[in-house]
Amino acid sequence: MARIALISPDQDYGDRLRSVGRVVDATVVQPPVGINVPEAGLAAVLANAPGVVVVGPDVPIDRARAWTEALDELRPDIPVVWAIEPEPETWRVALLAGARDVIGAAATDDELVAALRRALAIRDRREEALHVGSSSDLLGAGSGGRLIVVVSPKGGSGKTMLSTNLAWGLNEVSGGSVALVDLDLQFGDVATSLQLRPEYSVLNGLKVAGDPTAVKAFLTPHPSGFHVMAAPNNPAEADNIDYDSLAKLLDLLRAEFDYVVVDTGAGIDEATLCALDRATDVAFVTTTDLAAIQALRKAVVVMDQLELTAHRRWYVLNRADARVGLAQSDIERSTGLTIDVALPSSRSVPTSMNQGRTVFEDDPRSAMGRALRNAVELFVGRSAMKAPRQETGGLLGRWIGKGTQ
Ligand SMILES: Nc1ncnc2c1ncn2[C@@H]1O[C@H](COP(=O)(O)OP(=O)(O)OP(=O)(O)O)[C@@H](O)[C@H]1O
Ligand SMILES: [Mg+2]
Repeated sequence: MARIALISPDQDYGDRLRSVGRVVDATVVQPPVGINVPEAGLAAVLANAPGVVVVGPDVPIDRARAWTEALDELRPDIPVVWAIEPEPETWRVALLAGARDVIGAAATDDELVAALRRALAIRDRREEALHVGSSSDLLGAGSGGRLIVVVSPKGGSGKTMLSTNLAWGLNEVSGGSVALVDLDLQFGDVATSLQLRPEYSVLNGLKVAGDPTAVKAFLTPHPSGFHVMAAPNNPAEADNIDYDSLAKLLDLLRAEFDYVVVDTGAGIDEATLCALDRATDVAFVTTTDLAAIQALRKAVVVMDQLELTAHRRWYVLNRADARVGLAQSDIERSTGLTIDVALPSSRSVPTSMNQGRTVFEDDPRSAMGRALRNAVELFVGRSAMKAPRQETGGLLGRWIGKGTQ
């Protein structure tokens, strides 16, 4: 029988969770730990071998975050659910800390049952992945870096813009441990957007997917220090992909690099699903038009149905200030999703992409440059990027960085 540990001083909620626990076939334990010092209570909680941990109610948000981060650090395989009123800001803090779900006291028993079932299902999947030790050991500690998959159901939303800039920014903060994979197998333009002329592509990588040295030989270095696995030159070649090899290739890259950023084609195709299945992070990019928002909502629902849920999700609103289209607050209200990153419309984007450069290299002090820098810091989870210098002219060029001089 599964065990759920409740971290909360609230005995009434403990009783409620115990009765709901019976419905999902789980025993609920409420270890008598001080809620304020996770470091002191963590061992006692884990001693109960919980499959899921519920934090709150009556736990202040900063303490809930501390518990969640501590758990995430030690046992990333145990899903954490917050029983705290799900305000948008709470969601943000919870997800950043590593929680899987937020459910308020006003939730019905049915909603609570559904949330616990989801968490237990995730736990089962994670346990299976850890035990199989297969290529899908996606959430195990020490199983490699982060695999960030950039997707959007609608084309032209800014995936390639985001993935190339993310790769550049993450490369700066990780000191050069980033691979960028172009899984837009038919029409990928990562290489063009970065002014690279790759000799090899993902197709070469697939053939040697188990061999780190050989795979590395098929990466194309960007002058700033990250590595690109380019899309095939010929769209027809994208037809006969072996998805087992693709899974292996992504796992291998993840083992070798701190960050693997995956750009994908419009929509959700087989290659994208393969990447989503092993992602640690999924960045959904959308523009503000209704059709794009509806498509995004559908994609999220389908991913949940397919139980593609073992990752952190980031919602990126591109061209957030577009005059036509929905306002961010309307989008959040209508979809129930919280936008993590809002990027403005900016001339710097087409200008830099057309020159084969990132915005970080071309125009770091623009509104877009600053927004992208914030996005990178959010992904990393700390304030890690160097701020652009205030001086203009040559100094700016020097900040721009390593390989661009
Ligand atoms: N914030 C922005 N401001 C101005 N132009 C932008 C912005 N984001 C993207 N663009 C422009 O929109 C176009 C599409 O961007 P991008 O290629 O990144 O989208 P995509 O999602 O990768 O498209 P596809 O689905 O075709 O791969 C490009 O011409 C790019 O310069
Ligand atoms: Mg693209």
